[in-house]
Amino acid sequence: MIYTLSLNPAIDRMYYVPDLTCAAPIRTDDYHVQAGGKGINVVKVLRQLQEPTTALGFLGGAAGTHIEQTLKALGATLNFTPIKEETRTCLAFQDQHNQTLEVLETGPTIQKKESERLKKQLKKTLPKNSILVISGSLPKNIDDDFYFDIIQSLKENAIDVILDTSGIPLRAALAAKPYLVKPNLAELIALTDTDLSEESAQLNAMQTLLDQGAQNVVLSLGEGGALFANHQTSYKITVPKIATPNPIGSGDSFIAGFAYALKHGYNIREALRFASALGVSNAKNKEIGKIEVEDLEILQTQITVKKR
Ligand SMILES: Nc1ncnc2c1ncn2[C@@H]1O[C@H](COP(=O)(O)OP(=O)(O)OP(=O)(O)O)[C@@H](O)[C@H]1O
Ligand SMILES: [Mg+2]
Repeated sequence: MIYTLSLNPAIDRMYYVPDLTCAAPIRTDDYHVQAGGKGINVVKVLRQLQEPTTALGFLGGAAGTHIEQTLKALGATLNFTPIKEETRTCLAFQDQHNQTLEVLETGPTIQKKESERLKKQLKKTLPKNSILVISGSLPKNIDDDFYFDIIQSLKENAIDVILDTSGIPLRAALAAKPYLVKPNLAELIALTDTDLSEESAQLNAMQTLLDQGAQNVVLSLGEGGALFANHQTSYKITVPKIATPNPIGSGDSFIAGFAYALKHGYNIREALRFASALGVSNAKNKEIGKIEVEDLEILQTQITVKKR
């Protein structure tokens, strides 16, 4: 069983319209609606690997019910904390000229008693030595050190936490010693405020995160693969080239793959290869968080993991 935590999930609505610059009302029946947000993507991918998964986080209103139904249909166990306000909906529009417009709700305000309830629920739900994947940004009015607090409070149960977030909540959480953090390049640049065009600078910045408490760091570089570092060693991962990639959700797929590998006792190199194959597989698919399980074996032979 792998546990996931999504504090600010979303319903993603995508509309395909003729022309976004048109002032008249636009009518369309060309749209799709899906449960989204990084943590939800992680659950989707874990379930495609047939890994038993329990999803935790905040859900409210009709949008919350929709997400619940999607995750249930995937066979995940649900252990969400109900909230009074409605889970957010994010809108995306795309027209025939490939112009896009995104409208992202910041999401519900979480009440103090709701966040306290979630903390208790987490402690109660997670057995000793389990793996928790925490993904995404914090809802508004939740303190920046919320992830730090959670990771700290799970210490006595020896939970390995894989944390995929950015900015101040990530920086604050490092001191609680998460098992793995996985910024992408933009997130690492924002965190360290340095130019990271050279690999040596990237490795130095990763070292800073290790010094601040992370046990392992992956810097994911899209089509450039990834770098890995811990206090003992570092690796460079290269991935095969894809003709027309759709990389949204590749980071989430990587994270799901790494959690799976950790759960099933892969060594670090095997885990990096497997996680990368999931990232690549997601990028080969139009649908976010969709992987081809039958391709994973071949993909892994096309990925290299070399010592740095
Ligand atoms: N264009 C691509 N071609 C091949 N592999 C890719 C591509 N994009 C991503 N990947 C694979 O997926 C991994 C994670 O991707 P990326 O660095 O884009 O994560 P991310 O920016 O966190 O994505 P997201 O937050 O949208 O899920 C990469 O390390 C790589 O293995
Ligand atoms: Mg990401």
